[in-house]
Amino acid sequence: MFVPQKDHYFQRAKREGYLSRAVYKLIEIDRKYALLKKGMQVLDLGSAPGSWLQWVSSRIGKSGRVVGVDIQKVTHPMPGNVTVLQGDMTDQAFVKILVDSYGPFDVVLSDMAPFTTGNKHADSARSALLAEQALYVAQKVLKPNGTFLVKIFQGSDFHDFLLTLRKLFKKARVIKPAASRRESRETYILGTGYKGLTE
Ligand SMILES: C[S@@+](CC[C@H](N)C(=O)[O-])C[C@H]1O[C@@H](n2cnc3c(N)ncnc32)[C@H](O)[C@@H]1O
Repeated sequence: MFVPQKDHYFQRAKREGYLSRAVYKLIEIDRKYALLKKGMQVLDLGSAPGSWLQWVSSRIGKSGRVVGVDIQKVTHPMPGNVTVLQGDMTDQAFVKILVDSYGPFDVVLSDMAPFTTGNKHADSARSALLAEQALYVAQKVLKPNGTFLVKIFQGSDFHDFLLTLRKLFKKARVIKPAASRRESRETYILGTGYKGLTE
C-alpha cells in the first residue's frame, strides 16, 4: 500500500498555518489564472479540512462569501465570510437544497476525492462521478462567464468529461499543479467563461 510522505508542502502548510498541503495546488492555479478577486461569491465542494476555504476567504475579502460543502465536518474555526455545510454531494436531496438555497456564484471549485481503494478503475470511476456531480451543480449555480475548477482522476471517463467542459466553457484547460503528487492520478480541469444554460 502507498503511504504518502510528509513532504515539503506538508511541512510548509504546517509552518504557514494552512490546514492541508492541498492549499498549494489552489494557490498555484489562482496565481497563474487569476481565479479569485475581492467581493466574489465562491462555492467550494469537498472543502474539509478547510485549507482552500482559508485561501479563498483571504482572497475574496469581507465583501465576498465562500460556501464550503463536505461530507465530513470542517472543525477548524473559519473567518466570517465562510459558510460551511455538511452534506453528501451524491445525495440528490441535499444537492437540491444546495442549488435552491445558495448562489449564484462567480466561481465553483471542487477538490472532492473518493476514499480510494487502490483499484484504479474503481477509484477513477468514483472520482468521475464526483466531478460530474460538481459540474451538475456548477451548471445550476454559476453566473454567465463564471469559472469552474474541478479535480478528476485520470481514467476512462476523463476524456469525455473534458470534451463536455470544452462545450460548456469558452476555454477548458488540464492542469497538474506542482503540489499534486507525481504518483497520484489526480488532475484538475479549469473551465473559464461559462456560457450559461442553453435550455
Ligand atoms: C482532498 S480533500 C479536500 C481538501 C480541501 N480542498 C482542503 O483544502 O482542505 C477531498 C474531500 O472530498 C470530500 N468528499 C468526498 N466525497 C464527497 C461527497 N460525496 N460529498 C462531499 N464531499 C465529499 C472528502 O470528505 C474530503 O474532505
